[in-house]
Amino acid sequence: MKKFAIGILVAGCLSSGALAQGAGPDAAAGKSLWEGSQTQCRSCHGRLGEGAFGPPLSGRSLSAAEFRQAVRKPWGIMPAFTQDQVSDADLANFAAYFASLPKVAEPGPWRFPVPDGGRPGQRVAISLGCAQCHGATFDVARGIFGGTALGFAQFKDLVYDHTVAMPKLGIAEGNTPGQRLHMGNYDPLRISEQQLREIYDWTKNDLGFRPFMEARLTSGSAATYTLKVENSGFKQKGPSADDVTVNIVLPAGVRVVRASGEGYKGVRSDPAAKADVAEWKLARIAPTDEKVFEVTLSAPVEPGGLKGTLSWAKPAPKTGAKLDVMNFVLRAPG
Ligand code: HEC
Ligand code: HEC
Repeated sequence: MKKFAIGILVAGCLSSGALAQGAGPDAAAGKSLWEGSQTQCRSCHGRLGEGAFGPPLSGRSLSAAEFRQAVRKPWGIMPAFTQDQVSDADLANFAAYFASLPKVAEPGPWRFPVPDGGRPGQRVAISLGCAQCHGATFDVARGIFGGTALGFAQFKDLVYDHTVAMPKLGIAEGNTPGQRLHMGNYDPLRISEQQLREIYDWTKNDLGFRPFMEARLTSGSAATYTLKVENSGFKQKGPSADDVTVNIVLPAGVRVVRASGEGYKGVRSDPAAKADVAEWKLARIAPTDEKVFEVTLSAPVEPGGLKGTLSWAKPAPKTGAKLDVMNFVLRAPG
C-alpha cells in the first residue's frame, strides 16, 4: 500500500524496475529526485549537496534515520517536510545518493547573502532561509501576495501550516494537483510571529505587493510563437498592471514577418537588449484578464533562444528598481 502511494508521488523519478522489485535504497533515484523539479532542498544544500545556507550532505555518510530526523523534526531553522512531500523511501534514497558522493573541501556560498544596508525585513528573510527559495526580493511571491490581497493572518498560516493552508489558497502556481509542495512547515517556536511580521511588512510596505502576472511563450506551427500574458489576481482584490510593455527580443538576423495582439507597436532597436525587439504597449491588464500576442518570424528559433520581458509602470516598486520587470523565455513543447 505504502509503495503504491510512493509510486504515484514520484512517478518518473524511480525506475519501474526498482519499484517492481521493491528494492532497497536507490542512489540513482535519490539523485534524480534531488536534481529534478519536485523538491527544492538544493536551494539550501547546494546542487551536489556541497552545502550552502544549510550544511553539506555529500560524503558524510548520514544514515536514512539521520535524514528522517533532520527532515521531519529539524534541529534548527529548516522547515519540516511531510511524508507527502518527501517520503521515508525518498529520504533513504537521498542518504544512499549522498553517501556515494565525495566529501567537499569547502561548502558553497549562500544563493542569496544578506546585503550590506538591507532593510531589516529583508535581513530577516535572508538570514532565516526564506530568500534561498523566494529570492532576495520575493518577486514572484509578492505577485501572489498582491493578487490574493494576502493579509498577515493568512501569511502566517501559509508559513506555519504550509501544507494545509497552501492548497486552500486556490492558486496552483505551477503545481498541478497531486504534485508535491516545495516549501515545508515552519515551527513557531523557531521562527517567531514577530519575525514573520517583519518579513510581511517588508514585502508590503518597503517593496510593495505586485500584480500577479504570468507570461508563457510557446511555439505554434513553423516559425509562429504565441505569448500569453495573464493577470492571475483574484477579481476585485488583486491590483491591475498599468502602462504595460511587452518586448520579444529578436535573435540576430531574424525578422518579424507578421505580428498581432493588442497594442502592437512594431520593431525598434533596444539599447538595453543590444538587439531589435518587437514591442506591444497596453494601458491595463486587470485581474483575470488574459492577453494573447502572436509573432511569426523569418526563421524558426530553438527553445531557450527566444526571450522577452513584461514590464509595468504602475504599481511601481516602492523602493529599489524603478520598474517591475518579468522575464520569459520560449519553452520546449509539452
Ligand atoms: C531553508 C533552507 C533549507 C531547505 C529548503 C532544506 N534544508 Fe536541510 N537543513 C537546513 C539547515 C539550516 C540545516 C541545519 C539544521 C537545522 O537548521 O534544522 C539543515 C539540516 C539538514 C540535514 C541534517 C544535516 C546534518 O548535518 O545532520 C539534512 C539531512 C537535511 N537538512 C536534508 C534536507 C532535505 C532532504 C531537504 C529537502 C526536503 C532540505 N534539507 C531542505 C536548511 C535547509
Ligand atoms: C524550499 C524553498 C522555500 C523556502 C525555504 C520557503 N519557501 Fe515559501 N514557498 C515556496 C514555494 C515553492 C511556494 C509555493 C507553494 C509550494 O510549492 O510549496 C511557497 C509559498 C509561500 C507562501 C504562500 C504564497 C505564495 O507565494 O505562494 C508564503 C506566504 C511563503 N511561501 C512565505 C515564506 C516564508 C516567510 C519563508 C521563510 C520563513 C518561506 N516561504 C520559505 C518555497 C519556499
